[in-house]
Amino acid sequence: MSTVSRRYHITTFGCQMNKADSERMAGILEKMGFEWADEPENANLVLYNTCTIRDNAEQKVYSYLGRQAKRKQEQPDLTLVVAGCVAQQEGEKLLRRVPELDLVMGPQHASQLESLLEQVFNGNQVVATEPVHIMEDITKPRRDSAVTAWVNVIYGCNERCTYCVVPNVRGVEQSRTPGAIRAEMEELGRQGYKEVTLLGQNIDAYGRDLPGVTPEGRHLHTLTDLLYFVHDVPGIERIRFATSHPRYFTERLIRACAELPKLCEHFHIPFQSGDNHVLKAMGRGYTHERYRRIIEAIRSYMPDAAISADAIAGFPGETEEQFENTLKLVDEIGFDQLNTAAYSPRPGTPAAIWENQLSEEVKSDRLQRLNHLVAIKAAERSQRYLGRIEEVLVEDRNEKNPGQVMGRTRSNRLTFFAGDIHQLKGKLIPVRITEARAFSLTGEAVDVGTLVTA
Ligand code: SAH
Ligand code: SF4
Ligand code: F3S
Repeated sequence: MSTVSRRYHITTFGCQMNKADSERMAGILEKMGFEWADEPENANLVLYNTCTIRDNAEQKVYSYLGRQAKRKQEQPDLTLVVAGCVAQQEGEKLLRRVPELDLVMGPQHASQLESLLEQVFNGNQVVATEPVHIMEDITKPRRDSAVTAWVNVIYGCNERCTYCVVPNVRGVEQSRTPGAIRAEMEELGRQGYKEVTLLGQNIDAYGRDLPGVTPEGRHLHTLTDLLYFVHDVPGIERIRFATSHPRYFTERLIRACAELPKLCEHFHIPFQSGDNHVLKAMGRGYTHERYRRIIEAIRSYMPDAAISADAIAGFPGETEEQFENTLKLVDEIGFDQLNTAAYSPRPGTPAAIWENQLSEEVKSDRLQRLNHLVAIKAAERSQRYLGRIEEVLVEDRNEKNPGQVMGRTRSNRLTFFAGDIHQLKGKLIPVRITEARAFSLTGEAVDVGTLVTA
């Protein structure tokens, strides 16, 4: 392949972890001399970074792949790569299903993309899915935003929720060292990034695998300690973290968030179900009472904090009454945002082979009822912003209205206001909120001069 014609396209499915991996893989490809192509059709290397959390996510990948496989019959120099969680789950089987594939690589191999592609360019069909110790990656990611950035903190998951593929496809927990995390953030600060989201499947389990305990038996490197360690990185104005597991969310962590000025008042803590029997069958390891206590504690320290979560409707064996306990929790807590899904049986997970599966009708009916309530509650929560002045970090222009820019409040509400992106990008702007919808806000920039004299 000549260097001039090297163009790549990456399509990313799934969670923030995959988005972060895609940015790293894009960085590796650009270092290898590839240039970004806006459309897969204009690229001679097409990479799908895949998700298998639910069946529909997995099926989407096959339909995309089918199209590219067909294209490859006319354009034999096309390199086809499947990375991410479907790659890890299916491995060799993917080659039998789509023989046109050149490379199948699990998420733990993302930083090895260059050497894997070298094997491909030497004429091999390559499958890389064996578990590996994830090495510190020295390649610079090609980040989608120039304002906000992801920073991986802990890879993998040591839980065993009975519905979930993540432990199978992401492997065991591997925490990066506080030094490596801080160094990456310092580099981001130097490059002009303003906001960092620290990432992990269960980020509050950070550090359990790192050496060192206090005399009281507490791990030396918890998420709380990490936040104190990185919060003063120059240039970084806001710090977020996701996703939190209720089992590891401590009061010490909540106090740290309240105390550290750069820590944003938004917490993503999935509860999955509001019923203790269902939680037990899911293997979540907490009760709805514990979940409620966490939210109460957060609100006692930070009354205005935004809370978001994930929930599953129609888990095997869930009764109508148990489902209503989920509705009750949603009604009582009042989430700012909730990602909901109908239970989807996944290969290699315990719950998938239980006999008490619910019908598609029951699952989709419950999902609809849950979504209806979520929209009402989110709209209610949004009202509190009306008339207030919120600090918005400007990320980009509003794609639907070029006269407007978009950004987020500290509480992570998407906010639009009139302004010139060239002047405002990366700035923290006080915005008076004039319109509040369920999941986004509109406002107008406040003239700081009038604020001071007002
Ligand atoms: N580590 C996080 C969640 C990671 S997966 C946690 O433990 O909370 C993201 C979300 O996908 C989960 O929170 C769950 O709500 C949903 N999910 C996972 N497996 C699922 C399945 N088999 N069916 C439906 N939703 C699922
Ligand atoms: Fe999946 Fe549970 Fe791990 Fe979250 S904690 S990634 S739901 S196994
Ligand atoms: Fe999907 Fe893998 Fe994330 S299965 S949700 S991309 S960890």
